[in-house]
Amino acid sequence: MDFRKFGLFIWLVGVSCVSLWFYSNFPKFCIFCENSQDEVLPKENFRRTRGDFLQLPDIDCQENPPFLVLLVTSSYNDINTRMAIRQTWGQERTVAGKRLVTFFLLGSTVNLGQEADIAAESQKYKDIIQKNFTDTYYNLTLKTMMGVEWIHRFCYQSSFVMKTDTDVFVNVFYLTELLLRKNRTTRFFTGFLKLHEYPIRNRESKWYVSREEYPGKTYPPFCSGTGYVLSTDIASQIYHVSKSILFIKLEDVFIGLCLDKLKIRPEELHSEQTFFPEKITFSVSLFKKIVLCHKVKPSELLRYWNRLVAAYHGGVP
Ligand SMILES: *[C@@H]1O[C@H](CO)[C@@H](O)[C@H](O)[C@H]1NC(C)=O
Ligand SMILES: *[C@@H]1O[C@H](CO)[C@@H](O)[C@H](O)[C@H]1NC(C)=O
Ligand SMILES: *[C@@H]1O[C@H](CO)[C@@H](O)[C@H](O)[C@H]1NC(C)=O
Repeated sequence: MDFRKFGLFIWLVGVSCVSLWFYSNFPKFCIFCENSQDEVLPKENFRRTRGDFLQLPDIDCQENPPFLVLLVTSSYNDINTRMAIRQTWGQERTVAGKRLVTFFLLGSTVNLGQEADIAAESQKYKDIIQKNFTDTYYNLTLKTMMGVEWIHRFCYQSSFVMKTDTDVFVNVFYLTELLLRKNRTTRFFTGFLKLHEYPIRNRESKWYVSREEYPGKTYPPFCSGTGYVLSTDIASQIYHVSKSILFIKLEDVFIGLCLDKLKIRPEELHSEQTFFPEKITFSVSLFKKIVLCHKVKPSELLRYWNRLVAAYHGGVP
């Protein structure tokens, strides 16, 4: 081997090593790695690759699995509400020895400034799950399924998942107490039950669904999208079965269609009503015995939360 050939050889080896190192550390720059990775890697590894997520929260569910993961559908403009949730029910805490974590589900916008804001917020709080789909009300099903996929890939070791919204008050203490008391760890789905709903064919309605989108006369049982809770084992089942379900923009109905296919029927968490998909008037005694209520503004959220926690006298359950 003459000197020049040897030099070229060394140069090629060097370039290869640097490329390998670079792409294994920054896979998002690799234009041909991402697609093939999902198929080639064994299942456990597939679950932990970044996939097409733009933002991921900082948690290792294998190392320290949470009991309950709260996933909150949110969008760029909700920043004040996200801050209020981070300071109240969404703060990471331990209840009755069980770890609770909260993450926000976001789509994306074409506005690069807003995207940079989201990236910065994600860097700071490490609680954002984001994919590249247009963030609109009609894409709520995609947002929910992104959360389900995230659980399936990254946090299948948790015990329960709650999907809820930003304008919701969640009494995480009572929810944890009821889940522990119920002692159901598999095939469990609960919330505000909607057992006999049917498609609204009035075009003026926010919930209008055309016959093309959903030809059926009635919906299968589902739970109000304001907040529902599932045992984590069914998250992967929903993820898999969702691929064979006709897409419908109403995310709670879509989940109901998945459950129907899996032959899982939503059940009550408690003999008394604890999920309130409407606004209810605050009182400490009432809010101690609810799981959630709807239509709560950020300022109300902070006020209600402080009063609730004060009532527990720091001796939080
Ligand atoms: C998101 O998708 C759009 C259109 O599909 C594309 O132009 C854009 O580059 C994508 N953004 C990122 C961050 O991947
Ligand atoms: C949903 O997101 C997809 C992917 O970004 C986009 O093409 C579509 O227009 C969105 N749908 C609506 C109704 O906004
Ligand atoms: C919870 O259920 C399991 C069986 O599913 C049972 O072995 C256990 O004793 C139950 N625990 C309580 C506290 O009821």
